[in-house]
Amino acid sequence: MPENLTHFEFDITRSEREKLNGHKSITIWITGLSGAGKSTIANRLESKLFKAGIKTMLLDGDNIRSGLNSDLGFSTTDREENIRRIGETAKLLMDSGSVVIASFISPLIENRTTIKDIVGEENFVEIYVNTPLDSCIKRDNKGLYAKAILGDIDDFTGISAPYQPPSNSDFEISFESSDYEEKLKAIISKIKTSISYK
Ligand code: ADX
Repeated sequence: MPENLTHFEFDITRSEREKLNGHKSITIWITGLSGAGKSTIANRLESKLFKAGIKTMLLDGDNIRSGLNSDLGFSTTDREENIRRIGETAKLLMDSGSVVIASFISPLIENRTTIKDIVGEENFVEIYVNTPLDSCIKRDNKGLYAKAILGDIDDFTGISAPYQPPSNSDFEISFESSDYEEKLKAIISKIKTSISYK
């Protein structure tokens, strides 16, 4: 707690909000390259949970960077600040009893450690969308890789900025593998169990 600030304990706690909602809150962190398919997975995951009556909130790179984090770029320092603010936002949403699904490149091991530290390791589930760089470049759904390769975008992850893959994520999924649908279903089912009181 910074100097001259006093933490106020509210009457209504996270645990009471969770009980009211009928499930626990967690942060599901989805990491991977740009164009790896993180947003698609996040969207599928949220739809399934939402339809099952779970209170969810989806935070996504491009959307958050258009509002809350519109003052940040893609230098290492700005990405770290991007991730820190998202971590604090996720924590607030968890305190409200929600299941947070956060889809961000978060390229460095350090970025994901920051999130874990903010939300608490016990509340953190990591999904690594392991789509090879070559496939992301081929897919180039936003046309950004073409620009980055030409040098028109600086610090582009995978081209002119690093991506450090997680070595021990809770789940790993690839669009290119034949068991993609089964894997996604298994992930959703495991997450549902982990937030259930039963
Ligand atoms: S992160 O590295 O700080 O976690 P974040 O997930 O918020 O990145 O934003 C990534 C999105 O920003 C990409 O999907 C892409 O659409 C866009 N983008 C624009 N410039 C860059 C860049 N230099 N590197 C990576 N993504 C970029």
